[in-house]
Amino acid sequence: MTDDEFSVPAGSVPAGSVPAGTDQATVRVTARTQVADDVVALTLEHPQGDRLPAWTPGSHVDLVLPNGLTRQYSLCGDRWDPFTYRVAVLREPTGRRGSAWVHDTLRPGDLLGLGGPRNHFPMVPSDEYLFIAGGIGITPLLPMIRQADMMGAEWKLLYGGRRRTSMAFRDELERYGDRVRLVPQDEYGLLDLATWLGEPREGTKVYCCGPAPLLAAAESACSPWPEYTLRTERFTPPELDAPARKGPFDVELRRSGKTVTVDPDVSILDAVRGVGIDMLSSCRQGTCGTCETTVLDGIPDHRDCVLDEAERAAGDCMLICVSRSRTDRLVLDL
Ligand code: FES
Repeated sequence: MTDDEFSVPAGSVPAGSVPAGTDQATVRVTARTQVADDVVALTLEHPQGDRLPAWTPGSHVDLVLPNGLTRQYSLCGDRWDPFTYRVAVLREPTGRRGSAWVHDTLRPGDLLGLGGPRNHFPMVPSDEYLFIAGGIGITPLLPMIRQADMMGAEWKLLYGGRRRTSMAFRDELERYGDRVRLVPQDEYGLLDLATWLGEPREGTKVYCCGPAPLLAAAESACSPWPEYTLRTERFTPPELDAPARKGPFDVELRRSGKTVTVDPDVSILDAVRGVGIDMLSSCRQGTCGTCETTVLDGIPDHRDCVLDEAERAAGDCMLICVSRSRTDRLVLDL
């Protein structure tokens, strides 16, 4: 996934661990394979060869690098293999310590901290799936494609990239024949989503992952389709309106017995850390889901792009790196 800004407090994360209070594990890099220009795939295993936590298509993990950075990567291997995870890492042109470190320094044998897996991009049952990938956005879709194929569902994939050699996992996709359409931009131009999607119809789910312009194009192309047809995973946050309230609010941390006042220019995440609560986070943009926190009372002002409408309406969890409060007081399970 993306090489977003790091936000675990510097120096708080020793090699191969994640902060206390989070789901902790360690994995060993057992293989590293170049799968496209600027994309390496990593195979991860438990250091003692134990089983790894189960996961479902669309899941991602947090990897805590030995240099202290935390990054999210979609799991793109075989969900039925309980002993290995696979992730793929794109070298980001502006990344200096995350993806570049993975490409330049990480080697088989190295240990990494592991958070998750978590799934904010779940695959729901459907008769037909239309998958749209842009670049490294192919990664969460690979396990979905495998699952759709195993279930005997109708499916097809439209996969765009800058050029053919920059598009990861082309060899794995070849076996699906003409269900997969590769569209290198330097050969064919931009994806023609409307033509490929066809007429709007019931019983179809469209899954799209890739850069923001592709997601915007998918939203536009799917606007005539039935509600909730399109499901997306974002690497970057959308533009947001101003928060619901301008002033400060209080956050009670029920398990810790502390209350903190959150000023308008401070995130709940930073306020919580300010009173000594260690909390794993990564993107700080409401896109990764790492900082998801249970809400016990109060009404969140959701400003993330992880939770769906039903989860927002339920109001029992929130992403505290970006979301705020609609009420004078929020009570969190921290
Ligand atoms: S840290 Fe990524 S959603 Fe909050």
